[in-house]
Amino acid sequence: MITVKDLTAEEKLRLICGKDAWRTEDLGGKLPQLAVSDGPVGLRKVVRREDGKEYDKPSVAYPAIQCLANGWDRGSARAMGEALADDCLENDVDILLAPGVNIKRNPLNGRNFEYFSEDPFLAGSLAYEYIDGLQSRGVGACLKHFYANNLEFNRLDQSSDVDERTLREIYLKPFELACRAKPVSVMCSYNRINGVYASENKKGFRILREEFGFDGAIVSDWSAVHDRAKAAKAGLDLEMPFDQKNYDKLVADYKAGMLSDEELDACAQRMLDLICRCKKMRGDNKPEKSESDRLAVAQKVAEEGIVLLKNDGVLPLKKGVSVAVCGEFAALDDGGRIGGGGSARVQWIGKPYDLAALLREKLGGEVRYNRAFGERAIESFRSKGRDALENAAECDVNVVCVGTGDTVECEAGDRASMKLSSVQEEVILETAAQNPNTVVVVFAGSVIDVSAWEDSVAAIVYAGFCGERGGEAVAEVLTGEINPSGKLSETFPLCIEDTPSYRAYNDICVSRYEEGLDVGYRYYDTYGKPVAFPFGFGLSYTDFGYEDLKIRQTGDLSLEVAYKISNLGEISGKEVSQLYVRACAPYVYRPYKELKGFSKDEIGAGKSVSVKISLDSSAFSYYSTAFDCWTVEDGLYEICVGASSADIRLSAFVRIKEGKIASVKIN
Ligand code: BGC
Repeated sequence: MITVKDLTAEEKLRLICGKDAWRTEDLGGKLPQLAVSDGPVGLRKVVRREDGKEYDKPSVAYPAIQCLANGWDRGSARAMGEALADDCLENDVDILLAPGVNIKRNPLNGRNFEYFSEDPFLAGSLAYEYIDGLQSRGVGACLKHFYANNLEFNRLDQSSDVDERTLREIYLKPFELACRAKPVSVMCSYNRINGVYASENKKGFRILREEFGFDGAIVSDWSAVHDRAKAAKAGLDLEMPFDQKNYDKLVADYKAGMLSDEELDACAQRMLDLICRCKKMRGDNKPEKSESDRLAVAQKVAEEGIVLLKNDGVLPLKKGVSVAVCGEFAALDDGGRIGGGGSARVQWIGKPYDLAALLREKLGGEVRYNRAFGERAIESFRSKGRDALENAAECDVNVVCVGTGDTVECEAGDRASMKLSSVQEEVILETAAQNPNTVVVVFAGSVIDVSAWEDSVAAIVYAGFCGERGGEAVAEVLTGEINPSGKLSETFPLCIEDTPSYRAYNDICVSRYEEGLDVGYRYYDTYGKPVAFPFGFGLSYTDFGYEDLKIRQTGDLSLEVAYKISNLGEISGKEVSQLYVRACAPYVYRPYKELKGFSKDEIGAGKSVSVKISLDSSAFSYYSTAFDCWTVEDGLYEICVGASSADIRLSAFVRIKEGKIASVKIN
């Protein structure tokens, strides 16, 4: 095994810079080479054609991380990681540049579709499974973007101005939880954190390695390095992609003594360890799942993640009903339109879907389709949209497919508005005026302001960016073949002005995180602000009852919380139950309540399941800036179990005295 002692200074300097855009340095064959590729929602392998031009090789397009997270399903996250590993193995990729766990601080962030949640526990827990699934099949993960990278506006330079406690509890937390899966690498972000570039942020890297136990290599985001020697001094192991200017300056700085041998060796050794670990991990693993099995995983993830937001009873559609379908999102011919843009954009491998055809097949009745409008063709509604109105008036049910797409939700820019385009809102309202049984299906990667049309329609299905098998999953949900079970992984506020980071979101140079810990539901809950749909919310075609809360002490500061959920309806379904902890009278500020556990369970009609969730001291602790560590305060805590952050069904009080649980009282 080669160590840094076997390398010359020049070789070490080369090794800590990439070979090119997608490969590590092999020192002329002395070392094995690692191939890396994006990204979180499908493999985006860049390949060169015979004519020398580069293109993204088509690959299975899984649902966006946002849709995966709406499933609240650990099994799906693991399955998606495993399937992605097969895509990588088939394409000789050693490290997948995924997943991203940045917190959704503001609904307008152009990359929200790539991220899990506004809640660090949900984001970190699902990322853990994704990474573990991926790496269990021999492919390395690259957890990104470290850290406090929560907007795209001026992303290469802006500074996220965040206080220590908020960093620890909100923005670093998902990295901490995901690091327990031992990702082989972490990617730093573009932005600055409190004035210092993430690529040079020694403190952040120290926390990552010493406190989160990260033992892999830290990789730069693509071209996020401004000063290679400074970055190496801080502990950044690999600059990607190769940059001649940065390399030349690095050599000069090294010669001038600005980077010590010890510092260089530390980075170079971690690179050697990375190469060795990845090659060993990969071994001679071969893909286990066929391409069609991987497409089935993509469909399963979508089935778990579709969220039913409103239903006056029109859904599920009954066999034989006539349906008018309109909207370009109902029939896609280009993968980009139902996913986000940028490095996470995946060129679909499969065929585009046609929702009208799928509904025709499943319902057996008349299904008409009119494209009617498009986000890129505003005028088409006025010219062709008349048919959509006639169809809506003449059919039993009207299904309008709206959304955003890769031009609206894209890396390197934020959305201008939380609303759908005005023509989409117009079509919803005009067709709904023709037919009270109007169902809106939203294909988007982030939160949509539904206020203009919510009250005018009978049902809303939030499909999210549900991947290339999403059409099938939506058809299954609309017809009741699948009982919807997704719940929102981010709050839908009434309007963008209501969001806690609204005022200080994209100030030119500095984004002040003045809302502190009050991100997402933490804010709406604490201040009693009404929202359109709360965090954790999602309807089902059946009803669930919660009862029989029991709490068993398992250690000084650990508990097992058990409860029963019953399916009160006539069809089977899945319920995502959520456990929040509330500090009742703390001496430091605490958001009203915080998610500390969740479970997704399948429950047959008329049947019950017992759910058990374990809590340890982290369920009660906060980051004390007085002690510089996580601390549990004595006092009263409420354990709240519910169907959403706004629908608590069971609760109990736990008293902590002298650092130990002293009593438990079920309410
Ligand atoms: C993105 C990363 C991505 C990299 C390589 C960057 O622009 O921020 O997420 O992995 O490009 O494509």
